[in-house]
Amino acid sequence: MMKAICPGSFDPVTFGHLDIVTRAAAMFDEVVVAVGHNMAKNGLFTPEERVGMIAECTADLPGVTATTFSGLLVDFCREQGIGVIAKGLRFGADFDYELQMAQMNGHLTGVDTIFLPTAPQWSFVSSSLVREVATLSGDVGALVPASVAARVQAKLAERTG
Ligand code: PNS
Repeated sequence: MMKAICPGSFDPVTFGHLDIVTRAAAMFDEVVVAVGHNMAKNGLFTPEERVGMIAECTADLPGVTATTFSGLLVDFCREQGIGVIAKGLRFGADFDYELQMAQMNGHLTGVDTIFLPTAPQWSFVSSSLVREVATLSGDVGALVPASVAARVQAKLAERTG
């Protein structure tokens, strides 16, 4: 039984992420979508809120679950019996960043990483741009599921009071 993980910040989950998770789910028996802490990023949603949105958006995908993790990704993989990390690549800068992490993760425990090319229609989409566009009152309805767009609006409204 092959178990893979799609780790990320998912703040919030986008159609680009969901495309990668859907394709990984077709390749592996189980896929764990895992919200981790990226020390370089400030969050809009709590990890639990992000997991809730992912769980809702992946409810129809057999074998897919969502959770948080803390500490090293490779330690979580070992605890959960996960043998493969699956990640999407949009463009060259992603490759430079992801290759280094893949090599570090491989160095630490031998866990391997596979890269899936992002579908072209999502190659310009990132959670950080979704947050920025939404903060400045732009329309993110084509970039994230409707339930996620509604939560982004609600969170921003809550923040601005
Ligand atoms: O979506 P992101 O922000 O690119 O996700 C990055 C994430 C959370 C997957 C990465 O920062 C991570 O794995 N963090 C956990 C801590 C860890 O294992 N750090 C060493 C990575 S080589």
